[in-house]
Amino acid sequence: MSQRIKIKALLASTETGKDVTVKGWVRTFRNNQFIALNDGSTNSNIQIVVDFENTDAALLKRITTGAAISVVGELVQSLGKGQTVEVKAKEIKILGDSDPEKYPLQPKKHSLEFLREIAHLRFRTNTFGAIFRVRNSLAFAVHQFFQERGFVYLHTPIITASDAEGAGETFHVTNFDIANPPKTDTGEIDYKQDFFGRATNLTVSGQLEGELGAMALSDIYTFGPTFRAENSNTTRHLAEFWMIEPEMAFYDIVDNMDLAEAMLKYVIKYALDNNKEDIEFLTQRLTEEEKQKPQNERSEMSLLEKLQFCLDNDFERLTYTEAIEILRESTPNKKKKFQYQVEGWGTDLQSEHERYLVEKHFKKPVILTNYPKEIKSFYMRQNDDGKTVAAMDILFPGIGEIIGGSQREERLDKLEQRMDEIGIPKDELWWYLDTRRFGACPHAGFGLGFERLVLFVTGMGNIRDVIPFPRFPKNAEF
Ligand code: 4AD
Ligand code: MG
Repeated sequence: MSQRIKIKALLASTETGKDVTVKGWVRTFRNNQFIALNDGSTNSNIQIVVDFENTDAALLKRITTGAAISVVGELVQSLGKGQTVEVKAKEIKILGDSDPEKYPLQPKKHSLEFLREIAHLRFRTNTFGAIFRVRNSLAFAVHQFFQERGFVYLHTPIITASDAEGAGETFHVTNFDIANPPKTDTGEIDYKQDFFGRATNLTVSGQLEGELGAMALSDIYTFGPTFRAENSNTTRHLAEFWMIEPEMAFYDIVDNMDLAEAMLKYVIKYALDNNKEDIEFLTQRLTEEEKQKPQNERSEMSLLEKLQFCLDNDFERLTYTEAIEILRESTPNKKKKFQYQVEGWGTDLQSEHERYLVEKHFKKPVILTNYPKEIKSFYMRQNDDGKTVAAMDILFPGIGEIIGGSQREERLDKLEQRMDEIGIPKDELWWYLDTRRFGACPHAGFGLGFERLVLFVTGMGNIRDVIPFPRFPKNAEF
């Protein structure tokens, strides 16, 4: 008996006349004769032709949607439409039955909302097969991009005592009996008695530790899970998401932007080159979905065109101040169509504003720089105007912010002064400040929200559909 061959390789094979072994899950079984079999190696199924007259009726009954089977048969040229080869079954084994009465994934169109409820099975649909193969490629491409450039992949801690972004949206980590934690004399929870001897939380970002690495290794990147307890029930936020955070010594903000733009283009191109079939499938899916919308809400470009457009064009670069001017003068602002009016300099941009800039005004990815220091984190480098910091956010069509980054404040006095202003305890970050004491140098970095990238490349509309098991308020199923 020949060894198992994956369906992707089989469909590309021209060696008809040979016996092959395939294994997979039954998608459909038509007329007691044609099995569409899928093993996840590709979106396409292999057709198995069953000689039903010479096959045990009891076995035929067990070939049901969702069942796992093993097939030995001859690879032959297909007479049917839609495939070049098929397998003429000689022997079929049921590896795992699937009761058709109970199997939740019927061979019909299910809503994405329903599939989210059966996320343990949704990998078995065409859409989610494609999404997770694309996600895999993007992750690989991220590593390849940085490795080709000599970056060191650094593993920063998941459990930490710091809140890197200073936004206070952390998940606590404790070993206490939460109904009865030990208390101090003054009645506060006594974290000295906790596992780490202090209060700890899940990381919101690996940046601060990443900076320590860059101050010796020059160029590092992290790629790991991050956790935020922000109560945002949106299509763009997760409580657990994956972030890529490069940090580069001797980079200024322009170097930082150049690297970020090059990285995004590289990984998108990698997916286009290596996941053609999946992206074509997802393009078609999106086009179908958009047909449900009124004409004026449909996108001008298909998913494939959007991705290609992103590769072919320079991102638009402008300052926050310039963006505010554009937004203030924009038609939706004048007609009071924005939920949040853009009035003065200094306010944070809402996602509707970011999307207006990208989708309506520039019609391409945008890099915004030099934000007011009040709306950005303490570690960003202060500009000479005394008002802004060397921040850069990259905004993408349909997504809004995909990357947030900055040149870092390397001047100890400036950094300490800013921490005092905002009330960030310097003693807790003594190690971070040490890098400003010993061999400080200009450096910069950014964070790419991996799921937002996957959203963009797959054309999906909800971030909960591009991570296998999403974590969001009131949900931690699976
Ligand atoms: O802008 P953020 O908060 O920046 C940082 O965490 C910096 N420490 C990054 C750095 O400079 N090293 O987050 C970075 C990116 C955002 O642009 C967004 O793409 C993503 O992370 N992100 C989220 N993605 C999914 N769900 C959430 N709740 C997210 N919050 C941020
Ligand atoms: Mg941000």
